[in-house]
Amino acid sequence: MAIHLVQTSLLNCTLDMKQIDSYRQRVMNIHTYLESTTTDLTGWITYPLQEHDALFSKIDYISKEIRSKADILVVVGVGGSFLGARAIQDALTPYFGLPKNGIEVVYVGQNMSGAYIKQLLDYIDQKEVYVNVISKSGGTMEPALAFRVIRQYIEERYGAESSQRIIVTTDPEKGLLKEMADNAGYRQFVIPSNIGGRYSVLTPVGLLPVAVAGVDFRALMEGAKGAASELQEPDLANNHAYQYAVMRHMLYEQGYTNEILASFEPSLNKFHEWWKQLFGESEGKQHKGLFPSTVTFSTDLHAIGQYIQEGSRILFETLLHFNDMDDDFYVPYDARNEDSLNYLSNRSFNEINALSKQGTALAHAEGDVPVIQLELPKLDAYNLGYLIYFFMKACAMSASLLEVNPFNQPGVEAYKKKMLELLLEKKVSKK
Ligand code: PA5
Repeated sequence: MAIHLVQTSLLNCTLDMKQIDSYRQRVMNIHTYLESTTTDLTGWITYPLQEHDALFSKIDYISKEIRSKADILVVVGVGGSFLGARAIQDALTPYFGLPKNGIEVVYVGQNMSGAYIKQLLDYIDQKEVYVNVISKSGGTMEPALAFRVIRQYIEERYGAESSQRIIVTTDPEKGLLKEMADNAGYRQFVIPSNIGGRYSVLTPVGLLPVAVAGVDFRALMEGAKGAASELQEPDLANNHAYQYAVMRHMLYEQGYTNEILASFEPSLNKFHEWWKQLFGESEGKQHKGLFPSTVTFSTDLHAIGQYIQEGSRILFETLLHFNDMDDDFYVPYDARNEDSLNYLSNRSFNEINALSKQGTALAHAEGDVPVIQLELPKLDAYNLGYLIYFFMKACAMSASLLEVNPFNQPGVEAYKKKMLELLLEKKVSKK
């Protein structure tokens, strides 16, 4: 096996020179194409480097209004119009209760569950509500259906004030949602035409909901800007995102068809979902592509961990670790020591967690699971913004190495077509 254990870091990354040289030219060619094309959906590459003062002021203004007039923001969206905001919100707001500067943000329009929408309406009925409906195309079934319900609810409840309480994030020019917003006079945020769904989290798609949730969206964008500037580097030897893309590509070529993204903080569970969509929808085409899966350790070491250690040798692991967290807790000393844990007293949970990461990496590598390690200094808005951009850049490169288009999703149409046929064929039963 050419790669047994590859340790890398976002700050200090290593591929050996022979490997770098064999991919250097290809990576440079793809880089040049991605940076210069005007026909593909690559607007996200330079977006964080651009000046966004007016947009950021508008986000400040509207998010402040929402926080002052509402108890809850209902975000309607699916896929790339949902996962990123949800991921950032969960990663950067407290596990329990609300953050100091934020209100509750809930999501709808990602499923067809009647129970979900019914219970959501019951839940928000006692609260003051604002809505942010997000759809690039403006016609996706799940959010469109949910918005029909939520819009009627808001109109019945707030009357003339309802148009103030609905904010639309959509394409600048076209789509049914754009038409509805223009007709009703809803305030609008623009998803740039040259940025596709799963690459749009660092636009108003993600920024407005997370600002309302109390996240420092400017720091997030600073991190993305830092990454966008560093990762403009065309040479594989100096570009960590491209090195990660090449590593996973090489492993794929050797028969490791599944990548597991593993992290050690439960607040990253929704970030995993965002990552899964980014890579799965970008790469899984023409019967090619790594199958992206995720685990949260140490929880999953007591579940799927057994498979990783000793199951089929088809997977490699990308360990994601943040070296510092705002909060920590020290194990107390207990004179009784009935649980025999005094050897851990006065050590912090985060320190123990970091050691569990090291132990996991060693055990899995010894079990012939290739391990890539991505390390960031701290779980905060800056570093998360950096990481999001890092993964988008790596993903565009990785899909291009597979010779598939990173920016389309032709396969998603198949289920839509079948579902529509069934809906037109059968009358959906009414209660
Ligand atoms: O990445 C993508 O393009 C998709 O996942 C879309 O984000 C998803 O289908 C939602 O599309 P829209 O924003 O048009 O409603």
